[in-house]
Parts: sequence; structure tokens; C-alpha cells
Amino acid sequence: MKTKKLALFAAGLAAAAIGLRMVGCGSARSGRTTAAEKVYVAPGELDKYYAFLSGGQSGSVFVVGIPSCRILREIPIFEPRAAYGYAVHDGDPRRAELAATGGLWGDTHHPVLSEKNGVYDGRYLWINDLSNGRLGRVRLDTFETDRILKIPNLQGAHGIAAVSPDTKYIVVNGEFEQPTDGLVTNPAPYTSVVAFVDPEKMEVKFEVRVAGNIDIADTSKDGRYAFSTVYNLEQGKEQNSMMVFDRDAVAAIDIPAAEKAVAEGRGEIRNGIPILDPAEVPGIMTLIPVPKNPHGVNVTPDGKYVMASGKLSPTVTIIDTKTLKIVAEPEVGLGPLHTTFDDRGNAFTSLFLDSQVVKWNVQKAVKGAPDYIVDRINIHYNIGHLQAVGGETMHPYGDYLLALNKLSKDQYLPVGPDMPEAQELIDISGEKMRMLASFPTPPEPHDAVFIEAKILAPKVKQVFTPGPEAIAAGQESVVRTGPHEVTVKMTMTRSAYTPDHFEVREGDRVTFQLTNVETIRDMIHGFALPDHDLNVALPPGYTKTITVDAGKPGVYWYYCTNFCSALHLEMRGRMLVQPRDSNVAIPDWKAAQNVKGPVQGVPSTGAAR
Ligand code: CUA
Ligand code: CA
Repeated sequence: MKTKKLALFAAGLAAAAIGLRMVGCGSARSGRTTAAEKVYVAPGELDKYYAFLSGGQSGSVFVVGIPSCRILREIPIFEPRAAYGYAVHDGDPRRAELAATGGLWGDTHHPVLSEKNGVYDGRYLWINDLSNGRLGRVRLDTFETDRILKIPNLQGAHGIAAVSPDTKYIVVNGEFEQPTDGLVTNPAPYTSVVAFVDPEKMEVKFEVRVAGNIDIADTSKDGRYAFSTVYNLEQGKEQNSMMVFDRDAVAAIDIPAAEKAVAEGRGEIRNGIPILDPAEVPGIMTLIPVPKNPHGVNVTPDGKYVMASGKLSPTVTIIDTKTLKIVAEPEVGLGPLHTTFDDRGNAFTSLFLDSQVVKWNVQKAVKGAPDYIVDRINIHYNIGHLQAVGGETMHPYGDYLLALNKLSKDQYLPVGPDMPEAQELIDISGEKMRMLASFPTPPEPHDAVFIEAKILAPKVKQVFTPGPEAIAAGQESVVRTGPHEVTVKMTMTRSAYTPDHFEVREGDRVTFQLTNVETIRDMIHGFALPDHDLNVALPPGYTKTITVDAGKPGVYWYYCTNFCSALHLEMRGRMLVQPRDSNVAIPDWKAAQNVKGPVQGVPSTGAAR
């Protein structure tokens, strides 16, 4: 009884406390809101930022709204994804491109955005496929992958960066060293290359050889240098032999000097790409010694310093980007991996071993002041990358930081031995960091980049202007174009396909030219054809052309895979595949539609009707 009374009393106190808090909400004027309020985006309201998280071994990019942490979309890049009709069926040109350049899967790590005058312009996103040495490009007006590039002479495409301030190149680092002479028969030393890719044409312009490997990339804000961490300066081939030296390096490639050397024809041409060797072209690369097996490399927003995080050393090395000299090497904690920045001169470094983010003041560290550490916050668990909003640009926003964590352990309901990947959103607007929210994703985001919604959202296309290949309503047709070829020009709108049936023969190749003739946004129609490995999704105004084999004789219902209306289930039609030796004439589908009763030449009984 007494206990009950006490409990009631405690509840009363709690209520009073809540009341006080509510009153204290007046102090919300001073900007202090609860963590829940900071991430709450009410139904119908929109997020302030888009975050693009690499999908890791999902081969994709996850689009997340910040601060709500809601997952808005997945953009498939290196893997087929039926939900978006991406590279699903055999005849899809994108599928063929993926297959030809390394396979139908990828391992994406580092998303980077196009810049104009040092500011994100919302045109493109690029991301690496580490495993197959590729670079993918996503158009941000459609959120669709538009190019895949296989990088020659390079294995393990790891760090990438857009060269500031106008995206002159995308830099791609080859992590896995290869025999320098390109042969396995001659045990040459192993080296790597940094590739410089033209971002519009998506072709490699030149490569620079590095004696060692190359890991993470960033560039100076003025476009002069491409910086990369080198953790295997030893050129070791086994793990132990990669950890011999006390110092490895940051490689600083002088981009204008390299361009000049290429123009003078000083590169060795391999697979059509000039490769510059700094041993033969002095001055194009400087190796700056930094402690043991460094990982992240990040340039400060003002462009003054580049920082290498120590990984096996508890330090961050601060290097002057003009002189390439080390100016300070502050200790920050155990296992420093990456560093990001706010707009007030602070750096935030992820500490993998300590499972923390440490906030520290750059100027104080440079001056050797003892109180450069500002704050630490615990992460759950083993943080890899971290990114503050705008931290990669010259104008960080200084409000949110995303921690991308390797392990989630007890943070979510168990879902088998493989736990969800975890991200944590941290408020960095005050002196002290504050944990706001945590959200899981499928495997396995490595890194993220943000763009303000007010920059990107107006550029996002939701309805396409029909191109010259589009089929207009009333222009549909089924035409035999060869002895074994049929072209079906089809339109789709709520909630029917035109034509809603047609006939072909076993052995035919059937080309579908499909147009979604809708003109309002968010009215996607799908087109799936059972037993033909075919599903596409078409936004309004969009046309897609796909060719498939007719397959075995039978009736195949094509149907809409994107819910579109109350008659979504009825949105279907038939492909009638006649046996090869059938002597039944294939009627024109329009004529067939006008005929009452059994159509001439089509069996009046059985599955075909
Ligand atoms: Cu069209 Cu569902
Ligand atoms: Ca090393």
C-alpha cells in the first residue's frame, strides 16, 4: 500500500516535472528543444536535407531525409532492382553494361556530388564500386543511374572525390596494387594508380602511379591537389608486411603539373590511358609522411589544411595545403578514421576503437593549445565514416552530423545473426554534441553526403516530356517487322494497357515500346511479364523499349506492378504465344478488337481465349 502511494507520489512528481518542462519550453526560445522534437518532421512536412548513403554491398545508394531519418528511396546502381525496373531482364542495355563491366553486383562506398563554384549544384552523384573497379553516375533530376564506367589499369576502386571547385575530374583511387608492368609472369613490384575521370564524358583522362596503395581521397578547394592516403607504403603483399613502417603517407598529386605532363606525352599508354609515373616525371606527386596506416583524408572548409586520420595511431596529422608541410599532429583518441567539419572552426573525428566522435578545435590544435578537445560523444558502435552536413564543402551548415556505424549489437530487435546497420544523427549546433536519433538500413552504408532540399528538390523531375520515341495514345500498333520479329507499340494509363492483347509465335523476338502517357506526378505504371524475367516501372511521360523472346506457347498476362488506381489489379493484358507450327493466321489486334465473338484464326476454346 505504502509502495503504491509512493509510486503515485513519484508519478505526481514526474507530472510536475513534465509541467515544469512544458513551462521550460519557453526556453525553446533559447533553441533548446528535445531530441524527439529535433528529428520530428510532421506528416506532410518535408525534410531539410537529402542524405545520400552508400549502400555498400547492396550496390546502391539510400536516400534519407534529414533530420527525420526516413528512408525515401533506394537508387540501384550496380545491382538489378525489380522495384524500379532497373537492369532486371536479359535484354536491358543497362544489365548488359553491368555484366560486361564486372557483374550484376557492386560494393559502393563513397558518394560524391557535383560542384559549381565550390557549391553543390544538384546535377550528379558519383559512387565507386570497389569490387569491380567501376564508377557509377546518378542523375539527380531523375534519381536514376545514367552511366557505368569500368576503370582500366585499376583494381579495388576505393576512395573517390570530386575535384573542387567545379568538378573538373572525379578522382578514383585503386586500393589493390597490381604488378607494375601489368604482367603476372614477371614478379614486378606492385603499385596502384589514381584515375582522373572526366565527369561529363565519363572517361578516364589519365592516371598517376603510386608506389604503395591508395585508400581515401579528397581534393584541395582550389583544384590544385588530389590527396590520397597510402597505408601500404611498404608495398607489402601480406597484412603483417603492410604495417612495418612507422609512417606511411598522404600522396598529393599536383593536378596542373600532371595535366602538363600528359599534354607533353610523358605518360605510358596502357589500355588507351596515359599513366604518369612520378619516378619518371618528378614534381607531379609529393609523399607527405604521416603516422602508420592512415585512413581518412579531409580538407578543411577554408581549404587551408588537409587532415589524415591515423587509424593505427591516435593522432590526426594536419598538413598545410599550400606548403604540404605538417603543422600539427594532435592526439584525438583510439582508431581515428575520418574527420568532418562545422562552420565554426571545429573538426569532428570518428574513433573506431573508442566508439566515439571527438570534437576538437582546429586552430587550437595548430597552435598547440592544450585545450583543443571540445567534447566527446559515445557511438553505438564502432563508427566508420562520419559526415557533418556540408562538411565536405566550403560552407558547412554546422547543424547535424551523421555517424555511420559498423555494428549495432543491442540497438535494435535481433533479426538473425546479421544485425541491421546503424546510423546515428547527432546535433552539433551547440558546444556539446547531442545524440538525436538512430536508424537502421540494409547493408551496409559506408559514407554519406548531403544536399539542402531547397537546392535539389526544385530540380527533381517528376513528369517526363515525352521524347520522339514516345507512343501517343491512338498510335499503338502491333507490327510484324520480320519473319521472327514483332514490335508492340503500347501505351499505359490508369488503368489499362493498349493493346490489351496481341499474338506472337513461338520463336519470335518481341520488342515492346512502352509509353506511360500519364501527365500527373507519382503515377507510375509497371509492366511485368510472367515467366519472361521482365519487369519495368515507367514514370509519367517515360518510354522504355525492351526485347524478349516470346517463350513457350501459352497465354501470358502482363500486369501493372505499381499500385495506381482502384482498377490496378484489372490493369493487365495478354500476350498470346502461338505454337511455332501453328497454321493460324495472326490477326491484327485492332481488327480483332472489333470482332464480336471468337476472332477469326484464334481458337475459340482453350486457354488462348
Ligand atoms: Cu497501373 Cu497499377
Ligand atoms: Ca603501412
